[in-house]
Amino acid sequence: MEITKMFARKGADVVAFDLKASKEVEDYVTAQGRKCQTITGDITLTDNIQKTVDAAIKAFGKIDVLVNCAGVGFLEIATESTEKVWDLTMAVNLTGSTRMALAVGKTMIEKGGGSIINMASQAGIVALERHLAYGTAKAGIIQMTKQLALEWGQYNIRTNAISPTIILTQMGEMNWNNEKGEAFKKTIPSRRFGYPEEVAACAVYLASDAARLFNGANLVIDGGYTIC
Ligand SMILES: NC(=O)c1ccc[n+]([C@@H]2O[C@H](COP(=O)([O-])OP(=O)(O)OC[C@H]3O[C@@H](n4cnc5c(N)ncnc54)[C@H](O)[C@@H]3O)[C@@H](O)[C@H]2O)c1
Repeated sequence: MEITKMFARKGADVVAFDLKASKEVEDYVTAQGRKCQTITGDITLTDNIQKTVDAAIKAFGKIDVLVNCAGVGFLEIATESTEKVWDLTMAVNLTGSTRMALAVGKTMIEKGGGSIINMASQAGIVALERHLAYGTAKAGIIQMTKQLALEWGQYNIRTNAISPTIILTQMGEMNWNNEKGEAFKKTIPSRRFGYPEEVAACAVYLASDAARLFNGANLVIDGGYTIC
């Protein structure tokens, strides 16, 4: 949500696709004088992806930036891991974002370029307790980012990832607003979790001309957690 809001403040018209369309986002974006289309849909359904891309092209003619942010974050220890969590995590976090990138990327190739930003995680870089499905999916996103960067750089498309530490969103609060979270914080060199606006600023930067030589990068915003 913060990413959408910051892009609107920077002058972007927005198509916000989510399992639960947010009236708050729509009101915020339009209050900035920008256009906003919210689409409710499940990213695990390929039809929903294509419909969203078609709607964006119909509304705005082209897509300059895709921020692939949909994700689920269920944590389980490996010995008690369930097929349900594995399948959903892969379907949303990895397959969903890959299919969205493919559908949007094809339009970017036709229209002369664009910027794709995939939300990964520190959990895709280092191993963390209870992160079997989530960490594996996020590692996949980092590699998917590199693959598309390699093939699509020639089309003026830049594909990059962002890997945050724990961010105080709904997902961050759900998993880490507890004793485990307090203990985890002490292992981060900067001794704190991140704020949604800090990740939004990374996305805006990667989409901007200031980052025009970033392609296939993984911008790690983790207070130093993954340095050792
Ligand atoms: N919060 C953190 O600590 C943290 C850290 C690193 C990476 N991330 C990643 O950042 C991204 C955003 O997470 P967040 O913290 O804002 O979590 P969040 O739960 O607040 O947001 C995730 C969004 O994904 C949507 N979503 C879930 N399943 C979907 C589906 N099947 N189809 C369409 N949309 C779906 C949800 O409706 C929700 O709006 C995720 O990819 C997450 O893995 C979060």
